Amino acid sequence: MTEDQPWQQDQDYLALVDDLLSTPQVQKLAEYTQHHYTDRLQHSLRVSYFSYLIAKKQHLDYRATARAGLLHDLFYYDWRTTKFSSGTHAYIHPRIALRNAERLTDLSPKEKDIIIKHMFGATMALPKYRESWIVSMVDDYVAVKEVSVPWKGVLKHRLLKQFSFIKH
Ligand SMILES: [Fe+2]
Ligand SMILES: [Fe+2]
Repeated sequence: MTEDQPWQQDQDYLALVDDLLSTPQVQKLAEYTQHHYTDRLQHSLRVSYFSYLIAKKQHLDYRATARAGLLHDLFYYDWRTTKFSSGTHAYIHPRIALRNAERLTDLSPKEKDIIIKHMFGATMALPKYRESWIVSMVDDYVAVKEVSVPWKGVLKHRLLKQFSFIKH
């Protein structure tokens, strides 16, 4: 198993996201730097996969978590240089990602909530589902690791322990 891309060996996970992962719209995320050491596709896969593991462990909707996690940053601009007059990047990009994701696949209300609320903390709207909380927290967790050092992988058991306070 590759330490930094454990999802490549997880057929159960891949079966849930394969149709999305194979689209040019998702693959195009690889062209954008997300945090210093990673591109947006690798970031989205990390958030999706680690959120999926936690949701599965907690007997939650791991399919919605995996799919919406993969699509949570489906936008195509460099957030470090593009500025908006109508709002902050934190507010705007989840809305752009949701619009792009809706063009790509049918989304359940839960999947929409996961995408639109993933910046909770920087934005005000409260996540409605436990799965939305998971993706939002894992996004923060992954982002902090991605900006500080080149990604060296996360130990699965340590990650699950860290998020074990999320109860079904
Ligand atoms: Fe985001
Ligand atoms: Fe993200």
